[in-house]
Amino acid sequence: MKAIGKTVKRVDGFEKALGYSQYTPDIYIKGMLYAEVVYPDAAHGILKSINIEDAMKVPGVVKIATYKDVPNNRMGIVTKDMQLLVPAGGKVRFEADPIALVAAESPQAAKEAAKKVKFEIEKLKPVLSIDEALKNEVIVNGERNDAFHKKIRRGNIEEAFKNSDLIIEMDFETGYQEQAYLETQGVLAIWDGTYMTIYGSMQCPYYVQNDVAEVLNLPLNRVTVIQMETGGAFGGKEDVPSYVAAKAALLSYLTRRPVKLIYKRDEDMRETSKRHPSKSYYKVGFTKDGKITAVEIKAYLDMGAYSTLSPIVMFRTLTHAAGAYAVDNVKVDVWGVYTNRVPCGAFRGFGSPQVLFAMESVMDEAAKRLGIDPYEIRYKNAIEVGKAISTGQVLKSSVGATKTLEYVKEMSNYEELKKEVEEFNKKNRFKKRGLGWSHTIYGVSLGAAGQHLDGAAANLQVKSDGTATVMIGNTEMGQGAKTTMALIVAEVLGIPIERITVLQPNTSVLQDSGPTVASRTTVYSGNALRLAAEKIRDNIIAFIKENGWAQNVEIDYGVWKLDGKEVPIEEIVQKANNANVKLVEVQWYKTRPLRYDQETGAGEAYVAYTFSTQLSLVEVDLLTGKPQALKVWVSHDIGKVINLDGAIGQVHGGVVQGMGYAIMEEIKHSEDGKMLVTNFNNYVVPTIRDIPDIEVKFVEEEFEGGPFGAKGLGEPSLMSSPPSIANAVSNAVGIRFNKLPVTPEDILLKTC
Ligand code: MOS
Repeated sequence: MKAIGKTVKRVDGFEKALGYSQYTPDIYIKGMLYAEVVYPDAAHGILKSINIEDAMKVPGVVKIATYKDVPNNRMGIVTKDMQLLVPAGGKVRFEADPIALVAAESPQAAKEAAKKVKFEIEKLKPVLSIDEALKNEVIVNGERNDAFHKKIRRGNIEEAFKNSDLIIEMDFETGYQEQAYLETQGVLAIWDGTYMTIYGSMQCPYYVQNDVAEVLNLPLNRVTVIQMETGGAFGGKEDVPSYVAAKAALLSYLTRRPVKLIYKRDEDMRETSKRHPSKSYYKVGFTKDGKITAVEIKAYLDMGAYSTLSPIVMFRTLTHAAGAYAVDNVKVDVWGVYTNRVPCGAFRGFGSPQVLFAMESVMDEAAKRLGIDPYEIRYKNAIEVGKAISTGQVLKSSVGATKTLEYVKEMSNYEELKKEVEEFNKKNRFKKRGLGWSHTIYGVSLGAAGQHLDGAAANLQVKSDGTATVMIGNTEMGQGAKTTMALIVAEVLGIPIERITVLQPNTSVLQDSGPTVASRTTVYSGNALRLAAEKIRDNIIAFIKENGWAQNVEIDYGVWKLDGKEVPIEEIVQKANNANVKLVEVQWYKTRPLRYDQETGAGEAYVAYTFSTQLSLVEVDLLTGKPQALKVWVSHDIGKVINLDGAIGQVHGGVVQGMGYAIMEEIKHSEDGKMLVTNFNNYVVPTIRDIPDIEVKFVEEEFEGGPFGAKGLGEPSLMSSPPSIANAVSNAVGIRFNKLPVTPEDILLKTC
């Protein structure tokens, strides 16, 4: 390979390091207004009235919008169970359910006016937990709180449990996790009377285009969404920017002036989605030699006040609940439950980290009771080619599960390591070390729950000077997609990556390419771009041959070899361009239809699967309760590695973010349903001082449907971490924790 798998500089790194990159808050244009959102003072209630009279008197206020001003107030990506602005007479369903919008000449004026908007709310008892919601005494939304249900039914679990030597029954609970992207949500909307243009920080410009068009009753060809540099997203900018953009777009539409809406951290924390809190109930059968015989799982996700993406998140919870193992007797039920809390949604892993933590805890517990090493029990149950995952999908290729296990065992020098840990624990009374394994699976693509969106477009233009521009339908949000795309073009055409510009997506240029989620960008946009590059390559080769320039063409990095003679790429391209050879191509990539039965939950859930194994070494201070990760060994089978440094970076980030979820990050609420953690001063995320040593090794079991055999890595890089870290903490103190996060307080309470 000339480019793929090589260590390169990020194509967008230089500009970002120097501060040249343009983020949404960096845009200032003439006549621009500043927006502010008005929030209620209750988590649940009836909005009796809204009065904007005093607020309108604040100097500089241009417009205050309420529900009456919204052309189409009904919103929601799966079901229309929410509105852009709560109507008078309607229900406030969580503490940051927006009720009015202010546009003013300055941020100060907007803020002051927002404070002066008066409203009356007849308070109702808020429903603040899954258990409370399941009683269905107070209904949050629709007809019942447990509004969504998904299931898998395979084999015969009763029979299998009867024939099991060991049955483990355990309950689990997990809390919120905030995406904690450094750049808060923000958009700029410009309505000129005919066209709406939106610039924003987002993952899914096409979602924003569709939603803004729907709210304002505009045709899609009059709404253009342009992605700005995006300072992190992690799922938190999947559907949320639609709700942010719709607010700014409405104000611009009503004032015919550009409107900028940038969330402050506390607004972002209170209003926008997080990882769903969950409760789950596991019953798993084993033979005495550690083989899984059956799984019976019930999982509940706290959707918050509106369902947003939850029904799709639940599909991933459902299909990942039994973990990365071959199992034939399966009963899984997942419910999405309304509560009067923040609507939860996409977050790296998308409903799977909750249940993978549970399943991996069960595996450790089973290993302990059967006297089998936690590595061995995972190895025994690992998926191999020809075996079926919990939905019954038989995997025919690209299964590196056992290899990831083997690599981690090897890298960590596991047998020695166990002895060292034992020695350490013998010598130390107040500090205890522990090792924790995880072995996880991830379905790449939107899968059976979102096939209609699983396609993507790419546009490639080679310029006369041998440079190129690329536009793909998916977005760069920090994950390194631009560099990966440049490497694909470099591989096919031999254009060095420094000469490739990856442009920001513009919805008016490319066909709707679905969302930038589900670790799908490399496969979908990457394949579309590979096809475009191959077309241009073929156009140029045909020109070279037809003109008798050369008969034998070989492509190298920066040069092409024409009948063995090296010619710089720029010379070749210039000649082709002067001869009117077509040097621009748009290509589309989609995957084959999946056969999946929604009734039984059996069938092909995703187009490909990644496999991951992590071993973590932690140390717990028994006097303070503080757990500290010391070292992590991790291996991912992601198919062909295209952007090696980018991939290593993803894994480092994922390990750390997953560690935060496992042992640090927590959001609590007051009794009346208000979030007590609304800023980074009390939402504790890992800092550089908390980062363990991380050793990474990839398994490259190629996926025939991926560009050059690549799968995806964005989410799996996080998912291996929480169960591994949590298992290591449980192992260190000798007490199993069945709740995330495992905080110093939890550890002290159980060990004192
Ligand atoms: Mo991602 S959590 O699929 O936006």
